[in-house]
Amino acid sequence: MDINSIQVQAESDLAKITSAQALEEARVKYLGRKGLIAELTSSIPGLAVEQRGIFGKQVNALKHKLLGLLAEKEKTLKTKSSVLKKNNLDIGMPGIAQELGHIHPITQIIDEICAIFNRLGFSVVQGPEVETEYNNFTGLNIPLEHPSRDAFDTFYLKDYAKLLLRSHTSPVQVRVMKTREPPLAMVVPGRVYRPDAVDASHLFMFHQIEGFLVDENIRFSDLKGILELFAQSVFGQDIRMRFRPHFFPFTEPSVEVDISCIICKGKGCSVCGAKGWLEILGAGMIHPNVFKQVGYGHKIYTGFAFGMGVERIAMLKYGINDIRLFFENDLRFLKQF
Ligand code: DAH
Repeated sequence: MDINSIQVQAESDLAKITSAQALEEARVKYLGRKGLIAELTSSIPGLAVEQRGIFGKQVNALKHKLLGLLAEKEKTLKTKSSVLKKNNLDIGMPGIAQELGHIHPITQIIDEICAIFNRLGFSVVQGPEVETEYNNFTGLNIPLEHPSRDAFDTFYLKDYAKLLLRSHTSPVQVRVMKTREPPLAMVVPGRVYRPDAVDASHLFMFHQIEGFLVDENIRFSDLKGILELFAQSVFGQDIRMRFRPHFFPFTEPSVEVDISCIICKGKGCSVCGAKGWLEILGAGMIHPNVFKQVGYGHKIYTGFAFGMGVERIAMLKYGINDIRLFFENDLRFLKQF
């Protein structure tokens, strides 16, 4: 190898070096007793006398150049390792793996229920959590001075007397029907608010899913069929249903719907309070006054509506006895779903 190519080779070797051991190997390769420089030096006696002086000087210059490069490399390696030591940094240590999150159990149930109704031809719509007093009450046949309003009492927005946090998802019925004509089949998931004292079964905020279907010739038996399909999809094929007469201002007739207790299968246990039945939702045929409010008064439509509490469905499905668990963000609880 000639002087020039040795220098080029040495520079590229040194650039790749990252450890003290590799540095020592390079030193031996170039400057060791049997290294390349020694080889060049030993070739001097074989040269013509007049070349020896010039060649010797060139070899010497290369040797000093290489010594300088090696010393420089040694310095950078040392400062690198001392920085690592000073910071107590172990670059061989594996990183901290990011934990993957997952969908909240309440959102999972909402998605599951909406998917069931989707397959039955219902679309999913949403409405605002800040609602007008009209949509939350009056439009749903809940007169402002009527005692039936107490059941749906809510938080009003200060300085905006006619705006409130919706106390149910039913006002979305009014919103949709005011702007669209039947046939309509919708489910409406979302948050609702009530000034309830917090305990194992009450929160001031929870989730509901409203559903409604409006067309010509819709009958109560359509409601029964749809709800039975829904309950069996969520709770299992052997679930039975019961419709109890009830009162809601926005439906007539109105019912509360029970399923046979998923724990005792109807025999009676502590979960169902020895009744054998668990209430899961309210429903009924949409009241003619609601149709009047949304401008369907003169038409021939009929329809049904229902509303359920999502937390209640999730608690029944998974055997959870305290609603607060859903919102405490305790990962030991949430990771189970
Ligand atoms: N909005 C009712 C509530 O919050 C639930 C409900 C009952 C909705 C009957 C309906 C219905 O659409 O028909 O308690």
